[in-house]
Amino acid sequence: MRKKIIAGNWKMNVKPSETAALVKAVAEATKQYGNVEIVCCTPAIDVPAAVAAAAGTQVGIGTENCHWKDSGAYTGEISTGMIVDSGAKYVIVGHSERRQYFGETDETVNLRARAAIAAGLTTMVCVGETLEEREAGKLVEVIERQMNVGLKDVTAADCAKLVIAYEPVWAIGTGKTATPDQAQEVHALIRATLAKLVGAETAETVRIQYGGSMKPGNAAELLAKKDIDGGLIGGAALKAADFAGIIAAAANA
Ligand code: 13P
Repeated sequence: MRKKIIAGNWKMNVKPSETAALVKAVAEATKQYGNVEIVCCTPAIDVPAAVAAAAGTQVGIGTENCHWKDSGAYTGEISTGMIVDSGAKYVIVGHSERRQYFGETDETVNLRARAAIAAGLTTMVCVGETLEEREAGKLVEVIERQMNVGLKDVTAADCAKLVIAYEPVWAIGTGKTATPDQAQEVHALIRATLAKLVGAETAETVRIQYGGSMKPGNAAELLAKKDIDGGLIGGAALKAADFAGIIAAAANA
């Protein structure tokens, strides 16, 4: 049994002064869902406030990116050691917005993912195709490349700290959700690709989240699918009631 994991990705939307209230509201609204792993990934500058507000609750805190070097002259970056030191336990790597706007490649995703796993962070590695790629019939090729390069040299033992997020780029922030069948098809492909990398038995243990306009109204049907083990939530993670609605769906899935 894979424990469902619902993680919010706040993106660049919540100020440090607003952080504690949102984390506390999430913790309060989701107390009864002990069978779901609940995470808020916040801008790095919000992490201290988020960690303090989440202390003693069921909510885990993460960041939205990390660098692969331990330290050095990398202006604007944060290391995995800094994240661990801050009390955060999760990190998102390779989000499509990082790929689209900040030059992230499958190779840098791989460096970041391996560093994050080595630091003991639960690492959510994002993959997903653009609409253009899907319409050109390149879905399988793109997902396999993102997986094979992005997870190169990730071992079966590393998979204890690995989560994969399938986020079709065309569904992010657009209100367009992949249908449960469309999502399940890609989740199955992701698991099969992972099986070739680390073995089928290990691949069965790795959670695969869906992300892209997930909300309380569509979460249950997505989470009912065999290979959909959670969600990575943007917009709906900014309102505790909506986020809790998705977590409720995961608790009952
Ligand atoms: P939305 O839920 O706003 O579509 O964002 C999804 C996402 O990018 C989560 O990482």
